[in-house]
Amino acid sequence: MRTKSKIVLITGVTRGLGRAMAEEFMRQGLVVLGCGRSLEKISALSSSSGSPHDFAVVNVASDEEVKSWAHRLLEELGPPDLLLNNAALINRNAPLWKVSAKEFSEIIDVNIKGVANVIRHFVPAMVERKSGVIVNFSSGWGRSTAAEVAPYCATKWAIEGLTQALAQELPAGMAAIPLNPGIINTEMLQSCFGGSASTYPTARQWAKVAVPFILNLGPAENGRSLSVPI
Ligand SMILES: NC(=O)c1ccc[n+]([C@@H]2O[C@H](COP(=O)([O-])OP(=O)(O)OC[C@H]3O[C@@H](n4cnc5c(N)ncnc54)[C@H](OP(=O)(O)O)[C@@H]3O)[C@@H](O)[C@H]2O)c1
Repeated sequence: MRTKSKIVLITGVTRGLGRAMAEEFMRQGLVVLGCGRSLEKISALSSSSGSPHDFAVVNVASDEEVKSWAHRLLEELGPPDLLLNNAALINRNAPLWKVSAKEFSEIIDVNIKGVANVIRHFVPAMVERKSGVIVNFSSGWGRSTAAEVAPYCATKWAIEGLTQALAQELPAGMAAIPLNPGIINTEMLQSCFGGSASTYPTARQWAKVAVPFILNLGPAENGRSLSVPI
């Protein structure tokens, strides 16, 4: 008899850490469900991976888009075993007083409200089953700060608090974990670190360590602020 493959849902799979995790989880035999906003990259991922994996154009900042995405996936496949809130934006380097209201709102909408939207529509089915692990991507800047990234720091500190409160709400058997991935050479890092980003590991190198680490997380880690050991 064939045992059912574990299902992992990842937001932000079109590049960077999300993309590298999607590839590594698929290589390890999990079913990957993912989203991002870039149609071209989502279409390419869909055709290279095929069924039962599922990649969709969804903007996590839209509660309506997340709602219909969740409705479809929960109907077709049931609740995920692992839910990874990875999608995020960083502000262009600037002192806080030079960040426009529009840019500030976009970062809050994706990094905080987007995470809440995904939790709102996927977690009830996980709670009903009383199993599953929710990993919300935090940052070193969710536990410390730096100049010129205040909006991003604010959202990642929020993720730490939101996730620890969520951990107190879940039934036994589940976990919610704020995870600092480390420092990895992605477009986001290039935006804030410039040329020195290239001295850090690639997303693919990182995923070889991060994916087994994430697969080992369970109820014992509920509410603990963790970091990928890279
Ligand atoms: N790289 C690092 O060193 C580092 C360090 C600490 C924490 N982190 C955290 O790790 C996570 C991944 O970062 P990364 O470096 O891989 O970033 P990245 O290279 O900029 O990739 C971000 C991903 O999020 C997606 N995304 C952004 N807005 C979205 C939205 N509204 N709806 C759906 N998807 C959206 C992007 O896809 P589309 O543009 O196609 O939507 C992209 O796939 C983030 O939470 C970040 O804060 C990274």
